[in-house]
Amino acid sequence: MKIFDLPIETERLILRRVRHDDFEPLFPIHSDSDVCRYLPYEPRDEAGMREALEKRVALDRLEPGGDPLFLAVELKETGEVIGEVLLFYLNEEARQGEVGYVFSPDFQGKGYAMEATRAFMDACFKEFNLHRICARCSAANTPSWRLMEKLKMRREADFREHELFKGEWDHMYIYAILEDEWRAHFN
Ligand SMILES: CC(C)(COP(=O)(O)OP(=O)(O)OC[C@H]1O[C@@H](n2cnc3c(N)ncnc32)[C@H](O)[C@@H]1OP(=O)(O)O)[C@@H](O)C(=O)NCCC(=O)NCCS
Repeated sequence: MKIFDLPIETERLILRRVRHDDFEPLFPIHSDSDVCRYLPYEPRDEAGMREALEKRVALDRLEPGGDPLFLAVELKETGEVIGEVLLFYLNEEARQGEVGYVFSPDFQGKGYAMEATRAFMDACFKEFNLHRICARCSAANTPSWRLMEKLKMRREADFREHELFKGEWDHMYIYAILEDEWRAHFN
């Protein structure tokens, strides 16, 4: 799949397609109950992680409404995989996308998620030609919505008790940014 010029390189990071041998670094992340608290799945067991990884590796087209594209985020200095960023292609005609990010607890609080997501969103606008990118998170997931605000996304929705999430009422924020807003902030 040639959508982005990969790898995407930043000062400290490399973003590239996920590979089978990423099981080792990704399994501890996606089986961690703290990491998964606000993700739409329970901590993965080994079989679940292998299945999820297979989908990431096999993806060969980014289809509107289809599976997301995941990129592994590697630390340049050591080559370690420290997290992932992802893109759901929501709508082709209106050029809409949704981003997400998941980082190892060992590498949170260091600005890596911001650095990776900023570079990824830049490519989503400039190479994949999206018009609008949104992101959603639980209101209780402060690191996530703070990251959206650092990315200059606007809080567009504040849904209270609109659905049940893992057995409790959900309080969800939706953030978004348009391509011209992005260019104004980050060019
Ligand atoms: C959401 C998530 C990716 C945010 O990660 P993060 O590491 O907090 O985000 P950032 O990259 O923006 O890092 C921010 C922190 O790094 C600090 N930092 C340290 N060095 C830095 C540097 N060189 N540059 C920028 N920030 C730096 C910042 O001061 C900030 O700390 P603060 O929060 O105490 O102010 C992470 O919490 C996560 O993976 N959570 C689990 C999965 C999840 O919930 N995903 C989102 C679902 S909606």
